[in-house]
Amino acid sequence: YGDPNQKIDYVFKVVLIGDSAVGKSQILARFARNEFSLDSKATIGVEFQTRTLVIQHKSVKAQIWDTAGQERYRAVTSAYYRGAVGAMLVYDISRRQSFDHITRWLEELRSHADKNIVIILIGNKSDLEEQRAVPTEDAKEFAQKEGLFFLETSALEATNVENAFMTVLTEIF
Ligand code: GTP
Ligand code: MG
Repeated sequence: YGDPNQKIDYVFKVVLIGDSAVGKSQILARFARNEFSLDSKATIGVEFQTRTLVIQHKSVKAQIWDTAGQERYRAVTSAYYRGAVGAMLVYDISRRQSFDHITRWLEELRSHADKNIVIILIGNKSDLEEQRAVPTEDAKEFAQKEGLFFLETSALEATNVENAFMTVLTEIF
């Protein structure tokens, strides 16, 4: 996962947002360290992790910021979005409410972030197919209407996590 002495051509800040327990921190753990934990604790404040990758022959340091979905644990919103060039808007495919709240997260994002920010909608926990509460088509339609990229992921099974980050990072590029 990257040589620490490597020269860096670009640093891209990407923010994760969405309701509590949708899996933001585990998506980040999977991307940054290839780890996953079933007893992940709710995030308090802000954390970030980095991973350096090569995109089109340039080394890109992805600096991924993760905050609490729970209002009472959230940090100052404007600082969180400052300088972000990408955003991952995450819901849980097995919890309808987390998808219904996406409109609110999108509003917050659009009022605080740069207008050119690249946004991907992510339906996480695709491994929970039997408990699905959000049809893929609904999310796809919403994403299309709002001009967002869209993917379903599973941090648990490591499905599409890499793909989701690469979609955002390549588009920023
Ligand atoms: P906050 O920090 O409170 O905003 O929550 P979060 O969005 O960071 O959620 P977190 O990553 O802590 O995950 C919440 C729970 O969902 C944990 O028990 C995770 O193990 C579980 N989880 C995360 N991703 C997946 C997934 O892809 N599939 C399944 N089945 N469970 C997952
Ligand atoms: Mg978290």
